[in-house]
Amino acid sequence: MFEHVIKEVEEQCRVDRIPMLGPEKAKFVAKCVEEAKPSLIVECGTAIGYSGLWILRVLKEIGTGRLITVEIDAQRAEKARASFERVGASDIVDSRIGDAQKILKSIKEPVDFLFLDNNFDNYYPCFKAIEPQLTNPAIILADNVGIGADSMADYLEHVRTTYQSETHWFDIDLPWVKKDAIEVSIFRH
Ligand SMILES: C[S@@+](CC[C@H](N)C(=O)[O-])C[C@H]1O[C@@H](n2cnc3c(N)ncnc32)[C@H](O)[C@@H]1O
Repeated sequence: MFEHVIKEVEEQCRVDRIPMLGPEKAKFVAKCVEEAKPSLIVECGTAIGYSGLWILRVLKEIGTGRLITVEIDAQRAEKARASFERVGASDIVDSRIGDAQKILKSIKEPVDFLFLDNNFDNYYPCFKAIEPQLTNPAIILADNVGIGADSMADYLEHVRTTYQSETHWFDIDLPWVKKDAIEVSIFRH
């Protein structure tokens, strides 16, 4: 069921030009989740659930872990919720509607995996908002660090100078982008 719904959501994103990871980066994110086996993932920027579906499929396969995903656009979040329900993952996902910068401050449980994929200038404020809940260590993935580097310079400067941080580049076959990168940082305190 996951495979089928992921394909459908991917097609909808391409047709409606809704930003999404795309399969090349999604495979990488899924591999990171599989290796980390996190207890709680927080995602900023659900859109219509493409990346969430990839993440939830891994969590279902490994049989552990939950996802809190945050989207400011209520219509997109509703579509994502419907897809999460279709694949039978509603029990392990908490899909919240609102500004991630505010919602992350209300999360009061340990977070061992953070995925930043909302508008680029939100990355550093979102990181600061959830920082008190990050475990030692915690894995942080930030999407679009190739095309969005200038708008997230504060975030990149912080993680690259403070933590072990690596940039992973991808050739991408999306209508709106052909090359981009994900930053993987290991948060420690
Ligand atoms: C690149 S898309 C997310 C793509 C999604 N992660 C995927 O791969 O399927 C970015 C999303 O972040 C949302 N967004 C922008 N600012 C936000 C904020 N402050 N809080 C929560 N979501 C936000 C946008 O509405 C948009 O749907």
